[in-house]
Amino acid sequence: MTPTEPRPRRELAAIADDLARWAEFEKSEGMRTVETPADDVARLAEPPPRRAAPARSRPATPAALPASPRDAATEPAGGLEAVARRIASCTLCPLHRTRTRTVPGQGNPRAELLFVGEGPGADEDRQGLAFVGRAGQLLTRLIIRMGFAREDVFIANIVKCRPTEDFAMRKDRPPTEEEMRTCIPYLEEQIAALAPKAIVCLGATAVFGLLGLKGISRLRGQWQTYRGIPVMPTYHPSYLLRGGGDEKARYWDVWNDMLQVLARLGRPAPEGRKASDG
Ligand code: URA
Repeated sequence: MTPTEPRPRRELAAIADDLARWAEFEKSEGMRTVETPADDVARLAEPPPRRAAPARSRPATPAALPASPRDAATEPAGGLEAVARRIASCTLCPLHRTRTRTVPGQGNPRAELLFVGEGPGADEDRQGLAFVGRAGQLLTRLIIRMGFAREDVFIANIVKCRPTEDFAMRKDRPPTEEEMRTCIPYLEEQIAALAPKAIVCLGATAVFGLLGLKGISRLRGQWQTYRGIPVMPTYHPSYLLRGGGDEKARYWDVWNDMLQVLARLGRPAPEGRKASDG
């Protein structure tokens, strides 16, 4: 949509909602003034459109959250799908300008285990799905090794749009603190809707974004808590890939952390290599 085209009313309502949520979040952090993105304020001031916007001008919608067949009928109204819809129209930070699709996260809406990563890369941005690139393939192998299917767990990120170095969109970068602070209310809502029994934070950005803690090497393997939910910090799959992938020392550190997660969930440790094999 060009800046001169009037926005459909529901998009303006979504922007207003997001600004209100942002202001609430800032207030809860003790802020008394908030800076709102100039673009959003300008859009809110636009007159309502006389007719519906043409379909071709609608923003890319995210992939629907794929629920597992057994749970599809039990997704609570106003839960994860509602959050995903608001993410799809979010313009609260500059990342919306370069995204192809938003990546709200996907999986079982009744998952007992939530994995949280950093943010979408190129593959995720193209498909609207979290962890579908090389790091995602390694994460999938880990999930299966734990005795789950990917569809049994929920996978999300701290930020829902791809952070890149430049508008050429060639190189990924970690999200800035500002981008994380802007986006984190979405993850908070997703966690509230899911109420998982445990959360795995994948890498330094996830640990900082969710818990405000720094030092992944020190924190890895040490249980933390987010609003009463046990959180296990561990290394990000991309870090494992840089260290040689599956079966290398860092991988077994992560595996030891996942054995702790399985024990916390009351699930059996899979046969094969155990934590003590180091
Ligand atoms: N893909 C994601 O969805 N998140 C990451 O953190 C990395 C790759």
